Amino acid sequence: MGIVYDETRKTFTLHTKGSTYQMQVDPYGFLLHLYYGRRTRGCMDYLLTYADRGFSGNPYDVGKDRTYSMDVLPQEFPCQGNGDYRSPVFAVKNADGSICCDLRFQRYEIEKGKYGLKGLPAVYAEEAEAETLKIYMEDPVTRVSVCLLYGVLEEYDVITRSAVVTNQGEGRVCLEKIQSACLDFVCGEFDLLTFYGRHAMERNLQRVPVVHGSQMIGSRRGTSSHQYNPMMILADHEATEDAGSCYAMALLYSGGFKGEVEKDQFHLTRMQLGLQEELFSYSLDPGQEFYAPEVVLTYSQSGLGRLSHNLHICFRKRLCRGKYRDLERPVLLNSWEASYFDFNGESIYQLAKQASQVGVEMLVMDDGWFGKRDDDNSGLGDWYVNEEKLGESLQDLIQRINGLGMKFGIWIEPESVNEDSNLFQEHPDWVMRIPGRNPVRARNQLVLDFSRKEVVDYIFEQICKILDLGVEYVKWDMNRSLADVYSCAAKDQGNVLYDYVLGLYDFLERLVQRYPNILIEGCCGGGGRFDAGMLYYTPQIWCSDNTDAVDRVRIQYGTSFGYPVSSVGSHVSAVPNHQTGRSTSLKTRGVVAMAGTFGYELDPGMLTEDEKQEIRSQIEQYHRYAPLIQNGRYYRLTNPFVSEAGAWEFVSEDQKEVLFQAVMLEIHGNMTVNYVRLKGLKRDCLYQEQTSGRVYAADALMETGIPLPTAFGEYQAYQYYFKEVEES
Ligand code: GLA
Repeated sequence: MGIVYDETRKTFTLHTKGSTYQMQVDPYGFLLHLYYGRRTRGCMDYLLTYADRGFSGNPYDVGKDRTYSMDVLPQEFPCQGNGDYRSPVFAVKNADGSICCDLRFQRYEIEKGKYGLKGLPAVYAEEAEAETLKIYMEDPVTRVSVCLLYGVLEEYDVITRSAVVTNQGEGRVCLEKIQSACLDFVCGEFDLLTFYGRHAMERNLQRVPVVHGSQMIGSRRGTSSHQYNPMMILADHEATEDAGSCYAMALLYSGGFKGEVEKDQFHLTRMQLGLQEELFSYSLDPGQEFYAPEVVLTYSQSGLGRLSHNLHICFRKRLCRGKYRDLERPVLLNSWEASYFDFNGESIYQLAKQASQVGVEMLVMDDGWFGKRDDDNSGLGDWYVNEEKLGESLQDLIQRINGLGMKFGIWIEPESVNEDSNLFQEHPDWVMRIPGRNPVRARNQLVLDFSRKEVVDYIFEQICKILDLGVEYVKWDMNRSLADVYSCAAKDQGNVLYDYVLGLYDFLERLVQRYPNILIEGCCGGGGRFDAGMLYYTPQIWCSDNTDAVDRVRIQYGTSFGYPVSSVGSHVSAVPNHQTGRSTSLKTRGVVAMAGTFGYELDPGMLTEDEKQEIRSQIEQYHRYAPLIQNGRYYRLTNPFVSEAGAWEFVSEDQKEVLFQAVMLEIHGNMTVNYVRLKGLKRDCLYQEQTSGRVYAADALMETGIPLPTAFGEYQAYQYYFKEVEES
């Protein structure tokens, strides 16, 4: 049983395969956090200690007991205003103007299956795979109630958290802050791992010790952002890829967020993740509800590799949905870096034709096919085909491409509008803009007010007319951060950013329901909205606008801490690379793109016959390895930020097949040899490398490793495919 309530000790215990989570209702009705870590049993309330602590006040109802303070105890959902001076998870402005909330336990429910969240993405499960715990808390004065939600997926080693707030009082209240999950650790010395970056260089790993004070990440951009990813890891100082305790929190939300780790006066560590509180002040009228986005928690006692596997498997199997969740994704060619805005129907057809001859299965026509859109200054919002530019109807073009035996996909950016567009001329009030002020432009575009249903409805209708023509793939882009947060239709401007994201999710949900056979790839100037929220609607996301193979090794490394390879959009592009000017071999570019959804972003017409032949065999190879890449366990073998080589590996569930891939990131005279240790093999077994025929002992591969060649020339890539063999 995943969830156990002990009536005598008033404890809730949640068990997954490898972890235990425990909390307790204390005599005053406060919900205290007791334990999260390695799977164990028994009651952990012995961890709570009491002492008279100066300047840490005491709740009125504890009477003269000065040893009881909310400022010192580990809590499950700490509120602003009840005597806890650490960073709160929940802050409410009441009808009388006070900012205060005092939540006390009311009741609980345990249900089979996993809860869902209205209008928001959530992990799902078969009824037998999961249990839900609902703990109802209430402020006795204002009657603001919070239902804390816990989903326990025992076999997936995952616990999910969320909260539903209901205003049961008489007056309007405002949520000033609500985080979805909080973990209080009574002791422990930790490192914090976060993923920072910028456009075209996303998700660099930063690992720093947790120190006294607060360490924060977040986004104020209305999207989850290139700058910080909405996921964080707390690990023992000693934790490595293969050993040690670590905890992850990943937020299923695609808007602004905040993550914080605070080490307090008594060395307690509080970790929390949820919505960005800046520009957020969500008003709730009596009777209204608010859903906090979900956070996925996982714990590993055996290092970061295992922690990532837990997230990968959960996201791949119980967050991604639809036909393509389990299907091999078609190898695509995207027109962007091949021709940017400079194309017509015939040139797109020629791209498709050349691509089909080397084995590509789908042609994606990127930006520039609609409205007046010959560069990025105009046309967004006008979702009708520019037949004059194409020289034919979209239907004819799709038919011609289908005639080559290829699928057809298209690029859209539904949330944006250019001032130079018909849509803006007709509906200038549909954009986010503060009255009386000029808006902030970015890429010369503005953002449509997706907090308004009529705006979402209209764009949805326009886009459907296009998709109905036989489109089989959509790249959903979003090429700016939000600013000028203001909706002329909103009652309260503090609600707008969150309602915008609900509008986005509503659109995506309708799309997913109406077109179950369309593969949707998320994108936001590459990886600016690479988050677990999007994965609920789009099983893959364009990982970065940077297609340089060497940079990609690092970007994909950082991404792999939280997200499965099946979600990482990755393409082979032309050299010199358009973002860096660097040249790498076709083989290197192929190896790096194979650690993703695999496709091309170049004009095959510009290639030599030899290169075309190489692409043909690359694609054949990809098909051979695709099930292993998509469904296997992904292991990081080196850290490309410090090693001379970037190396990683895929191991099948039955451990019989292994694909090892590596790229040399540095070259030196008289090179020393890099030995890379393999992981996850069956000990005592033998593995045969399929190209050389050479047989290796698993223990040797895992203990000493495999020497990478010191071949001449920069950025060489190596790929070894092993199969388990019987002893002869
Ligand atoms: C974004 C995307 C690119 C491309 C362009 C088109 O930058 O990330 O892949 O689609 O927009 O304008």
